Amino acid sequence: MTETATKTYKVYELTRTDASGKEYRAAERSMEKPHPHQVVIKMKAASLNFRDLLVCRGLYGNVPLPLVPLSDGAGEVIEIGERVKKFKVGDRVSPAFMPDWISGAPNAEVGRTALGGFVDGCLREYATFSESALVKIPDYLSYEEAACLPCAAVTVWNAIFEGYNLKPGQTVLTLGTGGVSIFALQLARAAGAKVIATSSSDEKIARLKEMGAHHTINYKTTPKWDKEVLDLTDGNGVDLVVEVGGAGTLERSIKSARVGGHIALIGVLAQPESPFNPVSILMKSIDVQGVFVGSRAMYEELNRSLALHKIKPVIDKVFPAEQIVEAINHLESGKHFGKVVLKF
Ligand SMILES: NC(=O)c1ccc[n+]([C@@H]2O[C@H](COP(=O)([O-])OP(=O)(O)OC[C@H]3O[C@@H](n4cnc5c(N)ncnc54)[C@H](OP(=O)(O)O)[C@@H]3O)[C@@H](O)[C@H]2O)c1
Repeated sequence: MTETATKTYKVYELTRTDASGKEYRAAERSMEKPHPHQVVIKMKAASLNFRDLLVCRGLYGNVPLPLVPLSDGAGEVIEIGERVKKFKVGDRVSPAFMPDWISGAPNAEVGRTALGGFVDGCLREYATFSESALVKIPDYLSYEEAACLPCAAVTVWNAIFEGYNLKPGQTVLTLGTGGVSIFALQLARAAGAKVIATSSSDEKIARLKEMGAHHTINYKTTPKWDKEVLDLTDGNGVDLVVEVGGAGTLERSIKSARVGGHIALIGVLAQPESPFNPVSILMKSIDVQGVFVGSRAMYEELNRSLALHKIKPVIDKVFPAEQIVEAINHLESGKHFGKVVLKF
């Protein structure tokens, strides 16, 4: 008899979304036999993204409740449907952030399949996906490391190699030391780019330097950090900004970019101090491109590149899965450097 024929399994469900949020409960679900093209995974690890805070606070649209949270996970294949060709029992896999976005351009339909947002996500002992949603995990990565990739790392891949064509010798500006920005530093360095990285903490700045950031700026002690970026680039500005602050940093990011530079608009971490003035976008012919994670094909390309360079995600802390609230509080504190992970 197969594992799926007998078992119930544990999931964690988000039950409320509002300003105080973070109300999760453990629940049991019955295992179902996979359809012909489906794969059942025993989840081993999941990771948090800032998005998970937005979801539990009710800032991510109307998510269905109860919701199994978290887009990012990795696990082992324990059963396959009779027509599955790509995977076998024992394979190490991870689902794409939007299981229906296989390749090409996104559309509204694939956006509605985003895990842990509009459909159930990865904070569960077992999960069933269509084989087309899954990618194989590179051998040199642990489950905890692989669980860091689907949202933050794929977003960076899309931002710098799909939405932009980063070339060796170009200069990239990264903001802060969260999951997205640390992947941006690692991938930009691997591509031979120069990186200027900011942080609010001198301790974290020391780590950015160890990781190969060419220049660093403390954006708390240097609030006009855009001027410093211009000084560091002989007054020219950077080629690419990996923009995670949104309304609160966009104007300075635009000022930090060169004429004809590119802003990959990714995040919403910071609140604006004054109304946004878009004039520099036109005066400098800046290309501002919104990025929403990426396709399964991008995830596979990312994995090939990570494996080639043996890049490992930077994990700040691993919590047991049942400590979802502690883990999300840690993310919210902003004390982390890189990724916060949950382990089953
Ligand atoms: N569009 C997409 O597809 C996509 C995908 C992934 C993430 N995102 C978005 O991207 C953003 C980053 O996500 P994440 O998961 O990497 O977040 P995260 O890990 O929670 O990042 C937190 C870090 O951001 C830095 N930060 C906060 N305010 C800042 C500011 N005003 N200026 C510069 N840095 C600041 C801080 O770094 P220091 O402590 O070093 O100062 C903080 O520790 C979020 O808004 C998220 O929603 C979007």
